Amino acid sequence: HVSNEIRDKCRELILDNDKLKKIMEVFLDNVERGLKKKTHSTATVKCFPTYVQDLPNGTEHGKFLALDLGGTNFRVLLIELSGEHFEMKSKIFAIPQHIMLGSGEQLFDHIAECLAIFVKEEHVQDQRLPLGFTFSFPLSQRGLTVGILERWTKGFNCSNVIGNDVVTLLNEAIDRRGDVLIEVTAILNDTTGTLMSCAWKNKYTRIGLIVGTGSNACYVEKQKNAELWDDVDMGSGNVLINMEWGAFGDDGALDFVRTQYDENIDKHSVNPGKQKHEKMISGMYMGELVRLALQRFTKENLLFGGKGSDMLFERGRFYTKYVSEIESDPPGVFNNLIDVCEELGLKHATEQDYVNIRYICECISRRSAHLVSAGLAMLLNKMGEKRVTVGVDGSVYRYHPHFHNLMMEKIRELVDPSIQFDLMLSEDGSGRGAALVAAVASRLQKERR
Ligand code: BG6
Ligand code: GLC
Repeated sequence: HVSNEIRDKCRELILDNDKLKKIMEVFLDNVERGLKKKTHSTATVKCFPTYVQDLPNGTEHGKFLALDLGGTNFRVLLIELSGEHFEMKSKIFAIPQHIMLGSGEQLFDHIAECLAIFVKEEHVQDQRLPLGFTFSFPLSQRGLTVGILERWTKGFNCSNVIGNDVVTLLNEAIDRRGDVLIEVTAILNDTTGTLMSCAWKNKYTRIGLIVGTGSNACYVEKQKNAELWDDVDMGSGNVLINMEWGAFGDDGALDFVRTQYDENIDKHSVNPGKQKHEKMISGMYMGELVRLALQRFTKENLLFGGKGSDMLFERGRFYTKYVSEIESDPPGVFNNLIDVCEELGLKHATEQDYVNIRYICECISRRSAHLVSAGLAMLLNKMGEKRVTVGVDGSVYRYHPHFHNLMMEKIRELVDPSIQFDLMLSEDGSGRGAALVAAVASRLQKERR
């Protein structure tokens, strides 16, 4: 059994349905404020229109390049679409820490260099291919190929990028090299890429969700509700909205459920006061949340006989993948947990400690799954469609053994009972989505010429 003191002290991590419903209410209000012209500038949940209007219809074809920046891996991709058929080659490149925190010029030079290496390896350096740029940070878009960076998130903090159009920055870096021929035909968020990628396989897809390094969602909104978007209607009468829901709570809206661990994470992050919702949910922070709880309970003499280890007390040393591993053990079995304790120099942990640690992990991963569920239930209710598939990607959703089930169960409890929904993992990441958006864009461009 979990010890009573630990159970008591973990109560603040449990969000019951009353709290979740309260969160849904405030969240909906935030979304409305983001969408409206009058309130957008002060809104915390920005709800940026993406300039993507049409979902794929299966006729998209051609060869495309794509960049995928902002998740665990930076990837360059070459994608070929032809009707039902789809082929993808990709290569992962590292983004070293000094570049994540360096200058914008360094970052874009690095991206252009990786692109140059890739097109040569794939022997497409002489073709001028359309490129879809998945850039997974908050962009205020002025067109399908114009995106002004609003803020950095997830540990990136490059200078001289905020307030600038990142497509221009990429093009300038490419021009500086002079050895790459491409045409950026679309810039998009990973949530949009995920939605498009899944919509290609499943026609009910209306929401794209990421629970990975960061967390965010996008959804299909009626154009008339997207007040910021005053482009002429050339498409479906709909537009995808990149919610940037990670920023929910930045005005204090989530303070009634935030804990000392959340405060601590925020204070020590590169973006204090920002992305408070994301910091309660996503993979960049989940392991550290657990570590902070373990550290506190050790100091209070409730774990490890009061004796921790250097690694337990080291920031960032408890990886989010440990949470997935620990919860992958069947109930009452602690094989992975024992390995984690050994890795952290906690060989003196007892069976009682194992039970308690697992419980702490469960509280924190459940809280994350429940917050995501409340956001989705709010969206599903707002959209009012009878049947919706949510395309999902991200390491937390992908690797946590119970995340999917926790979400299915909780959304069911919170959503209007007449709505049918399901959650579909995006098998191929957001690359195909980027190609699909680039495909539609280059078709429209040709039509206009
Ligand atoms: C990948 C997508 O599969 O998942 C990316 O291709 C996305 O676009 C990423 O950003 C999110 O997951 P994580 O865990 O890598 O941040
Ligand atoms: C962060 C980014 C957002 C992205 C999400 C998931 O919240 O700001 O744009 O979609 O992470 O990667």
